[in-house]
Amino acid sequence: MKPRSTPHEQPAPPVPAPRKQASGGKAALPEPAALPAGLREALEKRRSVREYSREPLRLEELSALLWAAQGITAPGGLRTAPSAGAIYPVKSYVVVSRVQGLAPGFYSFDPDTRSLTLLAKGDRQKRLAKACGDQQCVEDCAAGLLLTAWYGGLRKQYGDAAEALALLEAGHIGQNWHLAAAALGLGSVSIGKIDPPALKLLLPIPDDEHPLYLLIAGRR
Ligand SMILES: Cc1cc2nc3c(=O)[nH]c(=O)nc-3n(C[C@H](O)[C@H](O)[C@H](O)COP(=O)(O)O)c2cc1C
Repeated sequence: MKPRSTPHEQPAPPVPAPRKQASGGKAALPEPAALPAGLREALEKRRSVREYSREPLRLEELSALLWAAQGITAPGGLRTAPSAGAIYPVKSYVVVSRVQGLAPGFYSFDPDTRSLTLLAKGDRQKRLAKACGDQQCVEDCAAGLLLTAWYGGLRKQYGDAAEALALLEAGHIGQNWHLAAAALGLGSVSIGKIDPPALKLLLPIPDDEHPLYLLIAGRR
């Protein structure tokens, strides 16, 4: 039988005999098994992009980024990103600067109904950038996903591990955002340098939620 191609389109080598490995020694891995092309390309293309054009995002593109980040994919509300105990303590807000068909402003995103609710009207990019260590890319992006944590249910279940678990979940959500951006040919970057108290002064975030992470995107 003809050996299958590897993801890098080279013919696969013949199946090797099981390798003997001295304990503590290195084992060279074979070429990775073929991943579906779309997934492989998104993984390969994902790169932090901090320079954006002024061209707006299409609403469908924002919808795709949000679906990838926090979309519902199974009965019971299970999502694209994993969550410890399926508690989903990470809440999603969208900062819109330039998205066709959406007024600039600050929105909450509800994954269950795939809808946005306007919480505050107006472009806040300059002040948002200030609350993120004066990063120019934050001012220039077309839209961003701000993730906050609500620790209530998580602390009850996991005690002191709650903070770490919410951060880990935010990381998963962030990677989904970036892979979707790469697949759509958009630029994106993680913004971990945030000032939570400044963000809470600037944006109507509930008192019992804590800002964790900002993910931004725009046209390259
Ligand atoms: C948790 C986290 C926080 C980050 N915060 C910032 C940030 O505040 N500003 C920024 O420009 N890049 C930020 N980055 C992006 C990194 O600088 C970037 O991932 C790194 O340079 C590697 O480049 P790559 O993403 O293109 O592979 C952050 C990345 C992570 C994972």
